[in-house]
Amino acid sequence: MPGLVSARAGRVAPMELADLMRVAQEANAIDIALGIPQQGPPPSAVLAAVGALQDGRHQYAPPAGLPELRRMIAERAGPIRQWDINPDTEVTITCGATEAAMMALLATTDPGDEVVLLEPYFDVFPGMIELAGAVPKPVGLSQPGWRLDIARVEQAITPRTRAILVNSPNNPTGQVLRRDEVLRLVELCVRHDLVCIADEVYEQFLYHDSTHISPSAMASGRNRTIVVGSLSKSLRMTGWRLGYCIAQPELTAVLRSVHERTTVGTSHALQAGAAASLSEELYTGRALQHRRDAVTKRLADLGFDVTPPDGGWFVLAGTETLGFGATELARRLVSEIGVLVAPGTAFFTDRAEGERWIRVTFARDPGATDEALDRIGRFLSR
Ligand SMILES: Cc1ncc(COP(=O)(O)O)c(C=O)c1O
Repeated sequence: MPGLVSARAGRVAPMELADLMRVAQEANAIDIALGIPQQGPPPSAVLAAVGALQDGRHQYAPPAGLPELRRMIAERAGPIRQWDINPDTEVTITCGATEAAMMALLATTDPGDEVVLLEPYFDVFPGMIELAGAVPKPVGLSQPGWRLDIARVEQAITPRTRAILVNSPNNPTGQVLRRDEVLRLVELCVRHDLVCIADEVYEQFLYHDSTHISPSAMASGRNRTIVVGSLSKSLRMTGWRLGYCIAQPELTAVLRSVHERTTVGTSHALQAGAAASLSEELYTGRALQHRRDAVTKRLADLGFDVTPPDGGWFVLAGTETLGFGATELARRLVSEIGVLVAPGTAFFTDRAEGERWIRVTFARDPGATDEALDRIGRFLSR
């Protein structure tokens, strides 16, 4: 539709998984591709959200978000960043982490600017950067273990680079940035005067002895980091669309200007519901550790090349050892045995590299996930 759509929007590719998901729905396939929690939010949050609707909270909430929800987030997010977060000037409630990341990109880039992101990446990121009018500059992580090669990141920086977008714990690799990597990243941002956009939606999901280190916890990182967070995972409410940005006051003021001109804020009653969960225990890696161990081992036993994830909800499993490309394997699994996995091509700009991996989640129903893995085992031994 030339002329009817912007070049910016026209450049954004359709979601890679959309076709496979259609086939999966028709085949009633078991979905181990998407990270969706099996249980709902804490009952206290649901009751409070219903109560908020009955009490008449039907009109706009304050655009920055309900003060009690901002206080809850500041209280929970502060200690791991060794920073007394001010809920009035440093926290903004958004429509999920998705809006928070988009706000961060719109607030920090001009058309034609470049954003460095680490590859493999959360599949939505390149399209978001393009929608902001900026240019994604992917930098591959290094094997073994999907580690950050800071020299390669530095090589990708040009006079047009404005931001580095990082996601730790990572979707899709499960990699968690170590303290030395975060330190070097922050030093790089300082040296080149860049913003660090840190997607930390899986900060509660850590396995064995891994620790989450935020660039915002570094003395020189605090003023140039925008933390992108979510309640989708830790409160199991992906459909409530509640996320947040944490950033120093001057950045927050600009983020809020963007927010007020895009969504004006997220649902009033659902924010009230989420805020009522302050005393509830969060959903964390403790609950998923066993599934992470079991699914990782099972995939390795089936012959996939697996780096055990240190965090998050996913394993990236190498298919080369099995003699399959990811696109072919994902298509055949969904159509022949009714199992949906995500082909790695969704997470790489380099398609050949993407063909070497599939992504599997261990956050879904254990029984269904085990059945899906049994089916994959039978398929591979045919
Ligand atoms: C890395 C990452 N960032 C952001 C999101 C989106 O989170 P939200 O539901 O809060 O928009 C997801 C969801 O899967 C994710 O994996």
